[in-house]
Amino acid sequence: MEPVKIGLLGLGTVGGGSVTVLTRNAHEIARRAGRGIRITHAAARQYEPERIEGIEQIDRISDDAFAVVDDPEVDIVIELIGGYSPARELVLKAIENGKHVVTANKALIALHGNAIFAAAQAKGVMVAFEAAVAGGIPIIKAVREGLAANRIEWIAGIINGTGNFILSEMRDKGREFADVLAEAQRLGYAEADPTFDVEGTDAAHKLTILGSLAFGIPLQFDKTFTEGISRIEPQDVAFAAELGYRIKHLGITRRAADGIEMRVHPTLIPHRRLIANVDGVMNAVLVKGDAVGPTLYYGAGAGALPTASAVVADVVDVVRALTTDPTNRVPHLAFQPDELTDTPV
Ligand code: HSE
Repeated sequence: MEPVKIGLLGLGTVGGGSVTVLTRNAHEIARRAGRGIRITHAAARQYEPERIEGIEQIDRISDDAFAVVDDPEVDIVIELIGGYSPARELVLKAIENGKHVVTANKALIALHGNAIFAAAQAKGVMVAFEAAVAGGIPIIKAVREGLAANRIEWIAGIINGTGNFILSEMRDKGREFADVLAEAQRLGYAEADPTFDVEGTDAAHKLTILGSLAFGIPLQFDKTFTEGISRIEPQDVAFAAELGYRIKHLGITRRAADGIEMRVHPTLIPHRRLIANVDGVMNAVLVKGDAVGPTLYYGAGAGALPTASAVVADVVDVVRALTTDPTNRVPHLAFQPDELTDTPV
């Protein structure tokens, strides 16, 4: 069978990571998806080819993102350029052209998701966005699929890796805020505009998405209370520690008497709590469902390969959903039955 053809927008941290994951794990990914997956057309304004493992697998690279979404050969567009515009125009054009879309763009989904999903529904195409929240943690799938039987009561989590890295380094090593932020930028954790990380905007984008999924409400970024960590001083972190607390930047959404609460702000957490001990770029999300009780999801919240893990998983989901074979839509085996005999145990 012909491989599924991917158009990739962006070859930065996450774009490069996605090329690498698709190349390194091509065999496993094809097996799980039920078809091979090939990046046939990519667009990027600036990129460093020598830093992207697998870049030679891409058939064609240019700087024209609209040529990718207009390419009749492309089946799925992966949008990894980030930001509101031209990401919005590109995604809407891809949908108009009948392409499925995978995106890691939380800003785009939080602000323009309602219109994007309406357009996708009208056109009969899929839009997948696992990588938009909590990097490599499959939290979208957990809330939407794993906990589908529950009435969600609340979600609370550390959903910005850069902010958590800054707070952890300030506490553990007494480092200055600006110095740690610069390192987060070098490591590819921070947003293009790092004020989104430190002023809570990025976490608010992600919380908006989680709140919508958990409570079945439209995406309402403008209703999310947002306070960042930029005014936290080293002595705040030290005083909190003296009192037995850690400062964590949390996103919290829950059912309240008069509606759904959504808020992002620094929070004092007793140091013995699990979530108080989530450090560095790691994220952790607690979800309380009425049937299952509290559940906890932990993993890298930013970075090339962890975020690419979520992007490529979405591609696999879309490819599976495209197949007409029902056994492949909800896969129950990681192997094909005819391979059982030659699989060493
Ligand atoms: N800047 C984001 C963070 C990237 O640090 O969490 C992942 O969404």
